[in-house]
Amino acid sequence: MKVTSCLIIALSMCMNVPAQKFVANYDEAKIPAYTLPDPLEGISSAADWPTRREAIRRLIAKEMFGHVPSHTATLEIVPDTEPFKILDGKAIVSQPAIKIAGTTWDLMIIRPANPSSPPPAFIAYNFGGNHTVIPDRGVRLPVSWQRKAKNHKAQEADRGSSARRWDVAALMEAGYALVTLYYGDVDPDMNDGFRDGVHAHFGVPKSDEWGSIATWAWGLSKTLDYLVASKIVDAERVSVLGHSRLGKTSLWAGANDERFALVISNNSGCGGAALSKRAIGETVGRINTSFPHWFNGNFKKYNRNESAMPFDSHMLLALIAPRPLYVASAEQDRWADPHGEFLACVGADPVYRLLGTEGLPSRKMPKLNEPTVGRIGYHIRSGKHDVTAYDWAQYIAFANKHLN
Ligand code: GCU
Repeated sequence: MKVTSCLIIALSMCMNVPAQKFVANYDEAKIPAYTLPDPLEGISSAADWPTRREAIRRLIAKEMFGHVPSHTATLEIVPDTEPFKILDGKAIVSQPAIKIAGTTWDLMIIRPANPSSPPPAFIAYNFGGNHTVIPDRGVRLPVSWQRKAKNHKAQEADRGSSARRWDVAALMEAGYALVTLYYGDVDPDMNDGFRDGVHAHFGVPKSDEWGSIATWAWGLSKTLDYLVASKIVDAERVSVLGHSRLGKTSLWAGANDERFALVISNNSGCGGAALSKRAIGETVGRINTSFPHWFNGNFKKYNRNESAMPFDSHMLLALIAPRPLYVASAEQDRWADPHGEFLACVGADPVYRLLGTEGLPSRKMPKLNEPTVGRIGYHIRSGKHDVTAYDWAQYIAFANKHLN
């Protein structure tokens, strides 16, 4: 290095020059020209898809979410001995726990009280602890890292605080169970150098190994292992759902684990359903700077360099095929690029069609609150970044259509 460059670096360090401020582009006219890689490249029949699929899955794992390390961890179940009823006796809540890799994950399973057979289920992480999903005092409080409430009193006050995001009554009415767990139990959502959660057991990941999203996705698969073994729900009809960063997670869980019968992305945005190459709203460089622990080390090379990506989110969505896939956007959630989420569905459609399914019925962005629903479903609802009763109504109808 030349002396002058050393001097400049030293000077800027002393002066603590702030990093360049990120200004999101929201203008479609300013999207860089891009070409999407063809998910069907090199293949012409459905019989060729499994090999192509695995190549794409490995590519996206290596370059973005990270491979799961080969190290093993055994899973132990602590059964719940005190289930209780809610909704005037219409539903039962049980809380078995999974012990794995030095961590404990409290599951909360809410199921219709009198099903004739194990019910189909939705599985979804929650952001704040199971106690935020329903207000009942019987729900255990999380003891791991806390995203919100800092002490016991604050946790108590937080009971039911996100209940409006969970339409438990509609799920019970439609005959579905809800399986939820707190994502912080699996891996605290902090950039701490991968020293906590299950990473304390698995060790610091290499640059092609898992970031937090892949770790959370693995947690969903481990939970599914338990659901298969326990027979408490119909494990052949489990829909995996997630909102925002947890929507990125549900997509990656569905891509890796074909036992998830149906996959739902709610407002997942950048690093989820939205096409990265559009670089509109949140970008790869921005997400890797704000949340460096979400993806693996390799993904950083695409910061401000999306054109070099040999894949995009339409290929992530194609990994779900031919299973039913629903992508939902919200009108005011421009940060998550609703149009890019829709275009990724359009880009995944040829794979669905090659596999003999309907794919996405429309090539044109649908109007507000007018879902387009085939084997791929998509809607943009009015309102902000959120999970609403409207979203749940579409997901329940979609599961009814495909899983019943
Ligand atoms: C931030 C982040 C998004 C993410 C969201 C969330 O807004 O930039 O990528 O989806 O948080 O998970 O709440």
